[in-house]
Amino acid sequence: MAGVAVSSQVERQSLARAMVTGFKRLPGDAALPRLEPARPWLAAVSVAAFLGVAGGVLSALAALPPRGVPDMPRHAAYTKECGDCHPAYHPSLLPAASWRTMMAGLADHFGEDARLRADTAADIGVFLQTYAAESWDTKAAHRFRRVAPAEPLRITAAPFWKHTHAGIAPAVFKTRAVRSPGNCNACHRDADAGGFHGPMVSILSRSLPLLLLLASVPASAESPRERIVADLAAQARAADPGFAGFSAARGAALYKARPGGGKPDTPSCDTCHGATPQTPGQTRAGKPIEPMAVSRVAHRYTDPEKVKKWFGRNCESVLGRECTPREKGDFLAYMLSQ
Ligand code: HEC
Ligand code: HEC
Ligand code: HEC
Repeated sequence: MAGVAVSSQVERQSLARAMVTGFKRLPGDAALPRLEPARPWLAAVSVAAFLGVAGGVLSALAALPPRGVPDMPRHAAYTKECGDCHPAYHPSLLPAASWRTMMAGLADHFGEDARLRADTAADIGVFLQTYAAESWDTKAAHRFRRVAPAEPLRITAAPFWKHTHAGIAPAVFKTRAVRSPGNCNACHRDADAGGFHGPMVSILSRSLPLLLLLASVPASAESPRERIVADLAAQARAADPGFAGFSAARGAALYKARPGGGKPDTPSCDTCHGATPQTPGQTRAGKPIEPMAVSRVAHRYTDPEKVKKWFGRNCESVLGRECTPREKGDFLAYMLSQ
């Protein structure tokens, strides 16, 4: 624009007007200059050279790693331990301070016992804080740096979340496919990558895993399972010399019982595990739980660490105490008979 201004000044005529009308005034009585013939080959070569250089520069830029999107490794322990009850939330959805507080309070995690071994918890804590909202330059991460002062641990309480989901009827979050606002994956197919590029709503596809589960084939008992039961029997005998074996009937009663003493939102095993051992359950955060009966889900009660961890948590949640070896054995006896 400066060039237009200067040129107009030097030639004493408006270059801008010439651009619009296509006509320029020759100075004084100057003769019309000889017009150059067009040189199409030269033009083609210069256009090609320009495209070559510009294309090369652009593709080199495109190959650079994206800025503000750290190369986050998959963290197996995080996905496993924090993905049991709800999706393992993308670390960019909360600021580091929230993750730190959350990892320090797993014994009462939104009314549930989510305790982990100390070293696992520490490891996951470092991962979450390293890749917290502050480390990302995505739109969601920027917005989620602001938490609700009253509920700094809830993504769904953050002002940005409230604002973007205000248009969704509350009933939608109560449908069986969604069940909880925290079940992001029910509606956002790119939730695991932390993208949240618009809604990508896929509520129906959520019911598919349940159908597949119902169709799963029964399998025969495995020896790791027998070992778990034998261990419990040994413990029960040590606790009570009069121990006369486990009872599936007592296990069935335990499954339905509402003993009190636990956390108010989880009065009974069937709160989460479904009305019967054959039916799938759902965590309070909306993630489906495969049926508990071994005739439905072959891998049930085959990993001693898993059995120990969940008896620990779930008995604490429902009964407010550890289950006795006899109660655990009864429960397993019931599930093996189903
Ligand atoms: C035993 C089940 C269980 C486990 C294991 C568990 N959570 Fe949760 N989590 C819950 C429940 C229940 C809620 C509350 C859901 C609700 O009210 O809708 C919740 C909520 C959350 C929320 C808030 C979601 C929201 O609605 O904004 C975050 C974040 C979260 N959990 C992170 C974690 C992390 C990190 C771990 C692993 C250390 C973990 N959870 C393990 C049960 C669990
Ligand atoms: C019932 C379905 C549903 C659930 C569950 C849900 N969302 Fe959404 N979300 C939507 C819809 C629909 C929109 C688009 C709203 C609009 O554009 O008006 C949206 C928008 C968003 C946006 C804004 C995207 C943008 O760039 O504008 C973010 C971020 C987001 N959701 C994150 C989450 C997170 C995190 C969770 C879980 C804690 C979650 N959502 C749970 C349906 C859902
Ligand atoms: C708050 C929800 C909740 C309640 C209440 C609950 N559970 Fe669980 N339970 C889970 C989740 C989530 C898992 C892990 C997911 C899975 O195994 O599919 C699990 C897994 C288990 C396992 C391990 C299964 C395996 O395959 O090794 C046992 C055993 C178990 N629960 C026993 C119980 C007993 C006994 C009660 C009642 C005293 C109970 N649960 C109540 C949520 C719950």
